Amino acid sequence: MIYEILTIFPEFFKSVFSFGVLGRAEENGLIKINIHDIRRFTSDTHRKVDDKPYGGGSGMVLKPDPLSSVLEAVKRTSKKSLVILTSPQGETFSDKIARELSQYEQLILISGRYEGVDERIRELYVDREISIGDYVLTGGEYAVSIIIDAVSRFIPGVLGNESSPYDDSFREGLLEHPHYTRPESFMGKTVPQILLSGNHKEIEKWRRGESIKRTFYRRPDLLDRTRLTIEDVKLINELKKDASPSFNVYIALIHYPVYNKDLKVITTAFTNLDVHDIARAGRTYGVKGFFLVHPVIEQRELVNKVIWHWTEGPGLSYNPTRNEALDLVRIKSSLDEALEEIEKIEGSKPKVIVTDARPRENMIGYVELKERIFSEEEPYLLLFGTGWGIAEEVIDRADYLLKPVEGATDYNHLSVRSAAAIILDRLFSR
Ligand SMILES: C[S@@+](CC[C@H](N)C(=O)[O-])C[C@H]1O[C@@H](n2cnc3c(N)ncnc32)[C@H](O)[C@@H]1O
Repeated sequence: MIYEILTIFPEFFKSVFSFGVLGRAEENGLIKINIHDIRRFTSDTHRKVDDKPYGGGSGMVLKPDPLSSVLEAVKRTSKKSLVILTSPQGETFSDKIARELSQYEQLILISGRYEGVDERIRELYVDREISIGDYVLTGGEYAVSIIIDAVSRFIPGVLGNESSPYDDSFREGLLEHPHYTRPESFMGKTVPQILLSGNHKEIEKWRRGESIKRTFYRRPDLLDRTRLTIEDVKLINELKKDASPSFNVYIALIHYPVYNKDLKVITTAFTNLDVHDIARAGRTYGVKGFFLVHPVIEQRELVNKVIWHWTEGPGLSYNPTRNEALDLVRIKSSLDEALEEIEKIEGSKPKVIVTDARPRENMIGYVELKERIFSEEEPYLLLFGTGWGIAEEVIDRADYLLKPVEGATDYNHLSVRSAAAIILDRLFSR
């Protein structure tokens, strides 16, 4: 693999690659790193590599002409050659991308500085734009070094043992198991017995289990990309049982005040399917209570009978798991009653989040709401509306308005039970 680095700070790279694994790889001819000083390709007497941005604003931009000259001068040595621009706006670098890049024979890496490079360089020369994370560095030299290090590990022979890059974290999407070395006991902590047993099959099993546990607790998102064995799934289910939800959320289904299709405020009737399905979704995702809010006593009595049937009546023995879901239900005549009950249980008023199918200003997104819910101990109450949505007088009282669930088309008429399941999944899935 030949790396061609384009930079205005060639000195930066003097020692970066001279140590350890990469130093040895270069000595052994497995990789070659060529550094090109962009400044040497300027044609003016001041050797100017940057200039002010058109349209004004702060900062400077790397000029296109010296960059273009150096890109033309660095001959592509093979068809398997790729021009990479480092940029916080690129695709996020990962183990998978490192592996893909290691298949090339020549990587030409552009280090940006200041506000970045002139856009026309990207349009004319760049094959792939790569970011090393959602933060902004002062220069691309750091990003280039990281990319070269991670890619080189996948080049056969660089690690000395060809299979080892695939034993590290992210193999099959999992984080790696913990490691121990001598001494056997250190500051009162001993090495797990299984690792001293010499039983390789059992050690392998233990390592797989630890790998699954680490990934479950630290990066549950990765489990979705992993092909799991039945043993893995059993272990994850055990872990889920132990990991009680670390959030404090209630949900409510509002039947008044809601709009009809002419945007008049009305009261809707209970829908049996909504009650069952939202309770089941609530139970699945770990909400602490499901309030059914209805001002009409006859409706409350009716739904009470349904709940009784499944939680105490004949339905209990017919389908006991339905009891677990419907047990979450609390029937209230108004939103205020639900708020008071949560305050009594939790010791503080919940923050109210309204869900609505219509886009409005200043709505909170799922990622931000999730971060808030998981970082705070205070309770939250998610309101779901019936009819054509929750009326303005309730929306005005909300602490947050959640962005509507949107699909791949402009059709947006989900049932409340579908929307509730999707929202709970976006916020609380593992
Ligand atoms: C100050 S940054 C330019 C940021 C740019 N104005 C923006 O807001 O997108 C200067 C250079 O540092 C490098 N850089 C900064 N952050 C990076 C990141 N997260 N990943 C890869 N390169 C980065 C790029 O080469 C970039 O051209």
